Amino acid sequence: MAYLWDKNLETGYKLVDDQHRELINAVNALNEANYAGQGSHELLEIVLFLIRYANRHFREEEALQRRFHYPEYSRHKTYHDDFKAQVNGLSKKMMGEGATPELVNEVAVFIGEWLINHIKGDDFAMAAFIQGGQYTDS
Ligand SMILES: [Fe+2]
Repeated sequence: MAYLWDKNLETGYKLVDDQHRELINAVNALNEANYAGQGSHELLEIVLFLIRYANRHFREEEALQRRFHYPEYSRHKTYHDDFKAQVNGLSKKMMGEGATPELVNEVAVFIGEWLINHIKGDDFAMAAFIQGGQYTDS
């Protein structure tokens, strides 16, 4: 399934939104390549690109939070670290067993769902704080 980018996913902080949009596009590209029957090697390349891009995005988001002394920084970083650990496990499995359509689908669904939930919750709270909006924990 394709993930649609819309206003519901915009935090209002351009740098973060641009990177989120790229990530969603990369998940869609992975799904498309998978459905198109691309080979294991090509699929693995796309997965690795996606993971590297996600890691870079997390680093930049965390640096932004430190710069603004975001009070939820540690907790937020834990979410990123958990994501990285899970995706790492899946990519290792893929390197061992090959990027089968089932495994690729598992990775794409995991990353897609995680991103949407994380953006709408934790990243919205972060963006509200760093833009001086009303930060709320609820
Ligand atoms: Fe985040």
